[in-house]
Amino acid sequence: MSSDDQKNVDLILLTIGVLIGVAVGLFVIARDMGNENMARMQLNDPKYQAAVNRRIEPIGRVVLDGEVVEDPGVTAVTEAAAAPVLMTGPQVYNAACLACHGGGIGGAPKTGVAADWTARIAKGRDVLNDHAINGFQGTGFMPPKGGRVDLSDEEIIAAVDYLVEQVR
Ligand code: HEC
Repeated sequence: MSSDDQKNVDLILLTIGVLIGVAVGLFVIARDMGNENMARMQLNDPKYQAAVNRRIEPIGRVVLDGEVVEDPGVTAVTEAAAAPVLMTGPQVYNAACLACHGGGIGGAPKTGVAADWTARIAKGRDVLNDHAINGFQGTGFMPPKGGRVDLSDEEIIAAVDYLVEQVR
């Protein structure tokens, strides 16, 4: 190749390089503009706004007695329906007591074993309920509500009922 040829080749390569640079630059600018527009269009889209509103709307609101609920989508919840569903004695027992009382862990009176329960039942049901709800330290340690302080007193008493029934 003559040196003139070499110069031409260099010039062509340089031109190609510059063109590629310009193309990449345009691509980047166009992409950024596209993203911005998309975001703006999406934010102003009523459907999008409605969807966001639905996601962030409060899960409930207090309705006073006699207050008319205007939003047809909201139905006033009656007291009976709003009352939490209580677990039955056996359900509470399985969820919160079985772990210790099933096998007599840590000195826990074993479920269904009369010898473990007779002296305790003799203390009276009020005492047993109180000890199950508030905890009891004898030779072992009975944690308040068996550790399930989220359960109601009624549920714990139902579980005590169940435990006592097992040795009758
Ligand atoms: C972490 C283990 C553990 C769990 C869980 C547990 N208990 Fe106990 N419970 C004990 C132990 C230990 C005792 C014996 C305490 C003692 O006499 O020193 C006991 C004793 C009792 C007593 C007799 C109390 C008394 O005055 O003699 C009752 C009733 C009782 N538990 C009810 C329950 C009920 C109901 C549950 C479930 C809601 C439950 N326990 C969950 C360990 C447990």
